Order: sequence, then C-alpha cells, then structure tokens
Amino acid sequence: MPNTTLVPLLADGEFHSGQALADALGLSRTAIWKQLNRLQSLGLEVESVKGRGYRIPGGIELLDQSRTRDRLEPHARQLLHELQLLETVDSTNAEVLRRIAAGSAPGLVCSAEQQTAGRGRRGRQWVSPFARNIYLSLCWEYHQGATALEGLSLAVGVAVVRALRGLGVDGLQLKWPNDVLAQGAKLGGVLLEMAGDAAGRCQVVIGVGINVAMPPAAANTIDQAWIDLTRLCDGSPPGRNALLAALLNELLPLAASFGDTGFAPWRAPWIALDAYADTPVVLHSGEQRQAGVARGVDERGALLLETTTGVQPVYGGEISLRAAS
Ligand code: BTN
Repeated sequence: MPNTTLVPLLADGEFHSGQALADALGLSRTAIWKQLNRLQSLGLEVESVKGRGYRIPGGIELLDQSRTRDRLEPHARQLLHELQLLETVDSTNAEVLRRIAAGSAPGLVCSAEQQTAGRGRRGRQWVSPFARNIYLSLCWEYHQGATALEGLSLAVGVAVVRALRGLGVDGLQLKWPNDVLAQGAKLGGVLLEMAGDAAGRCQVVIGVGINVAMPPAAANTIDQAWIDLTRLCDGSPPGRNALLAALLNELLPLAASFGDTGFAPWRAPWIALDAYADTPVVLHSGEQRQAGVARGVDERGALLLETTTGVQPVYGGEISLRAAS
C-alpha cells in the first residue's frame, strides 16, 4: 500500500515547505522527498516552487467518514451497514466480493481513493486515479434469484442521474444498458457482479464509477469518449463526499426495494433519459454486428431493437451499443 500520510497535509492546495512537512510528520527531508515522488507516481500533480515549497494545485478533497455520513438521509443511514473507505484497492467490486466470500455483507459500501485494477464492463479496465473520481461498490442480498434482478443495472443508472441532478448537474442521459452520458461522452459507468445462488439467495455488488476531475495523464489511457464533472460544471464540481452521500441516498433505497418492485417503476424514468431513443444503432457482440433502430427498453430492461423483421428484445451481457455512422 503506498504511504500517503503526506496527502492530508497537502490537500488544502496551499504551499508547504519541505521543512514544515518534515516537522509535521516527524520525518527527514529525504523521507518527505521520497513520499512526494510516490504521490507523483500515484498520478497526483505536486507542484514544487523554490522558496515556497510544495502544493497540490487546486487542492483535493479526500474521502471522509463524517463528511459523507453527515449528508446521509435517515432512510439511507438505516440501510447502510458499513462504510468502508480505503486509500487504495485493486477494485472496490473485488473487495466487496471478497467480503461476501468471508461472510454475508448486505448494506456494505466500499469506496476508495484509487483502484489499481478497476473493472469496467466487457473486461475493460476502469481508469481510477488517486483522489480524483468516485469508485463505489455496494452489496445487497436478494432471495428471489437472478431473474428477479433483471433491469437492476438500468435502475442504478437512473438512480445515479437522480443523485447528480440533486447536486445541480443537468443534461445527463443514459446509454443502454447503463452508461451515464453528458454531452455525448461517458461520465460514469455501472458494473453489477453477483455471488451466491443464481436461483435463490444471492448477493449483488453494484459498482459505480463517476469521473469527477480526471487528470490528463490518466485520461490518455481511456479508450472512449469521456467527460468529467469538472468540465461539466465549469470547473466547480460537487465535492466528492457530497457526491458519495448523494449516490448512497439514491442507491441504498433502490437496492433495498428492488427485490419487491423490480424494474417496473424504473422503466419510464429510464426511457425519459434514453440518449439513443429512436436512433439508428449498431449492436456489437464479439465479431457480430446487428443494425437497427433503438426503441427504448421493455419491462425486463431489454433493449428494443427494430429491424426489418420487427422489434426484438436484446438482453445485456457482453453486448455494446453504438450510434450507426
Ligand atoms: C463500465 O464499464 O461502464 C462500468 C464501470 C464500473 C466502474 C466501477 S468503479 C467502482 C467499481 N469497482 C470496479 O472495479 N468497477 C466499478
């Protein structure tokens, strides 16, 4: 685990001299210099100015238990069993799956400053630099088997949009099955993973990633059109603890009620946010391509694709959707 004890001292964005940092941590100047190098390797920009010291330009807001919990609504607070905030982890989804394997974990939420092996859909990597974005996984348990959970990942997309809207972020849309888009680019993604019995008692891990302030170096490794809240909010994105709390205020009640409600109450809100409604699209599944016109989703969350042979439902999995060029 990288040693980031320096980060809270630099989080304010002000200059701190090497000596002041060394004194505050009881370390030598050389040890401070080594830590500063490590922060750069985490992708954190640390500016060094002769005579003034070091700073993180613009500062950063670290994840914080009380700053998140204080913003939770009473219902979400009741549903939250544990809030695990980590500095670094391979993947918050993987961490929650490990916790499930070690014993049941409903109501467990895990978020981290950094993921070293963030997972995206269809085996892709999710770029997860330190202290810049939101990486969140939440576990809930269901007893009705996997079929009762159809449409859950789409409902999660709607819940994410509602959370962001509540913080004043407008102009969001969803791309089937659950990409969160703004200005036609990807702002966030949802990855559901399951453990347990697909026909009975199972645990679902709801993983959500939101780009808040993607640093340019990390952005270079993203292989699709992306956007972050900083650009979307003209340089003033919501704080990460406020964002985490807003997401939990929507996601915990959704997770807790979905076993009873299913996708039905989420279908119309999803359709209202559909970025590809009545648009010519091509579905990609491995080497296969299928062209058609997207006609919203059915009551199970399947994409309705109109082709020359009529309208067919298309189920998720490894399929991706692109606008027809
Ligand atoms: C996608 O490809 O659109 C899904 C991205 C999901 C990313 C989130 S970040 C938190 C959680 N942990 C992971 O490893 N992935 C999900």
